[in-house]
Amino acid sequence: MIDFNTLFKTSYGLHIISSGDDKRRNGFISNTIFQVTAEPAQFAACVNKNNYTCEFIEKYGSFDVSALHQNTDSEIFGRFGNKSGRDFNKLEGITLKYCETGVPIIMNDSIAFIECEVVQKFDVGTHMIFIGELIQAEIIDDEKEDVKLSDLPEDWTCPMCGAEKEDFIEI
Ligand SMILES: Cc1cc2nc3c(=O)[nH]c(=O)nc-3n(C[C@H](O)[C@H](O)[C@H](O)COP(=O)(O)O)c2cc1C
Repeated sequence: MIDFNTLFKTSYGLHIISSGDDKRRNGFISNTIFQVTAEPAQFAACVNKNNYTCEFIEKYGSFDVSALHQNTDSEIFGRFGNKSGRDFNKLEGITLKYCETGVPIIMNDSIAFIECEVVQKFDVGTHMIFIGELIQAEIIDDEKEDVKLSDLPEDWTCPMCGAEKEDFIEI
């Protein structure tokens, strides 16, 4: 038996994963970024192959992860979480920073970011799992708390597409 409600009991952080350069770049909301080793520090990012950002990670070989805080503007979830950068410029008006690899970091509503260089990747069907080695990490705001998928209210719907919270459990 598989009770899919069980998946709500597992905690996931909400982040924006971004990649590209100062001319071509993109990002998306992810609840599947997690640390896999400590020495060296490596992170796994599970990315749908249909995501525009997947192409950028493949091409640039690195990605940034911005950790969002609990009062993140719902417009940010709508913009990055259910619309594709193929259809509009998601990063217009967004504050960006560029670090070691030249990949953009989304600063809006972010409390911290990490930058990772892809060292391995796994094709798991609908998604790619990118393993990235940590090359930079900074705290932006030490006062605010990070947000988890479970922090979103049960009746949360995407402000742009109307999709419900449970639509984002399955990756
Ligand atoms: C709460 C939430 C969590 C999400 N988690 C993931 C994820 O872990 N992996 C993924 O590939 N897409 C995830 N998505 C979906 C992408 O953010 C979405 O498909 C996005 O529009 C892709 O943008 P892009 O095509 O511009 O890259 C999530 C969306 C939301 C709202």
